[in-house]
Amino acid sequence: MYPVNPFIFDSLASEENFCNREREIEELLGDIRSSHNVIIFSQRRYGKTSLIKKVLHLAKIEGFLTIYMDVYHILDEEDLVKAYAKALASTMEGSIEKIFETLKTIFSSLRPKITVDADGKPEFTFGVESGRDPIMDLEEVLESVKEYADKKGLKAAVVFDEFQQIGQLQQAHRIESIIRSQIQGHKDISYIFMGSKKHLIFDMFGDPARPLYGGGKMLPLEKIAPKHLKRFVFSRFRSTGKHLPKEVASRLVEICESHPYYTQYVSHSLWETMPPNSPITDTDLGNAVNLTISRIAPRYDSIWDLLPLRQRQALIALADLAPNEKIFSGDVILKYGLASAPSFRKALKRLVDKSLVDRDQNTFSIIDVFFKKWIQMNFSIE
Ligand SMILES: Nc1ncnc2c1ncn2[C@@H]1O[C@H](COP(=O)(O)OP(=O)(O)OP(=O)(O)O)[C@@H](O)[C@H]1O
Ligand SMILES: [Mg+2]
Repeated sequence: MYPVNPFIFDSLASEENFCNREREIEELLGDIRSSHNVIIFSQRRYGKTSLIKKVLHLAKIEGFLTIYMDVYHILDEEDLVKAYAKALASTMEGSIEKIFETLKTIFSSLRPKITVDADGKPEFTFGVESGRDPIMDLEEVLESVKEYADKKGLKAAVVFDEFQQIGQLQQAHRIESIIRSQIQGHKDISYIFMGSKKHLIFDMFGDPARPLYGGGKMLPLEKIAPKHLKRFVFSRFRSTGKHLPKEVASRLVEICESHPYYTQYVSHSLWETMPPNSPITDTDLGNAVNLTISRIAPRYDSIWDLLPLRQRQALIALADLAPNEKIFSGDVILKYGLASAPSFRKALKRLVDKSLVDRDQNTFSIIDVFFKKWIQMNFSIE
């Protein structure tokens, strides 16, 4: 049997694919045990969803009712209500008929239906009364989850993944108000809100004018510590019969700046290109990095195509400048053809809004480390 590539980058990390995060797991389990509300945010693909799924799995073993909901694809308020009701239904155990009866009793205005999904498996969907205000339905669903947990005598953990999406809905302020007023009374439920658009999450939870202001502990999820990632990469190679010298593993993690997704992606490319029993060198690593960039390039091409000239120039400047350089100086403006400092600032603001650039006080950086490499490779400035 051929060994299978042990590195994954297109699905959640779990079991032997999951590297460390022990401190975060303990902290989050502690928050769930004490029914604290938490706001977890990080850049894209740092491992929020993988982490929370693992934490929920452990919390479930400890006896918590656990509900996970991804709101990324929610388009309107009604969608949100139905998706939350469905997320609750999917945690219920027992026969379809029994769950159906329970759902009918806990929801007074939502109408559960049993349908069949694309694989022929039965699933629950929910109908709403026409003309009824979906925000009232939302209030009902939030309450019903609490009542259900109380009836079962369970404490609960409820996760809203990609929560910033809620802020884009038409009635965002009302939704946030209802969530705020409901969760304040739910003393035995830990609500965990997650998001990857830092500025949007900050707006929702850090702006005193927004209902969810101060609604929980802010937990920025950092990268995985290099020492854990190095060990992880090294041992995944070894367990599949390929030898990656420790120094090359270290350099791999350094090149990926300890980013979990890119570490997995480059490791995947390197593993794929190396035959067993062949010593892996820095040259092989360089080739694997280039292969990875060429595979991601179409995604970067399409982002680039949509950017106006000033924003492209701003990205080229950021990719080229040293971290501590005075970016609004006359020399920089001239070197990168940036027109003027105000126009550079405006371009950077737009890039922050698009979540391509991160702003920390007056320091700006390109969020995606490989996007930065791609820009450096394609648009070098002499
Ligand atoms: N603990 C981990 N151990 C190993 N690899 C990880 C870990 N966490 C994340 N990864 C890598 O990062 C990828 C993205 O993980 P995940 O989808 O959990 O991140 P995310 O922060 O939820 O991403 P997004 O911002 O797209 O929602 C995984 O496919 C995996 O390759
Ligand atoms: Mg995610």
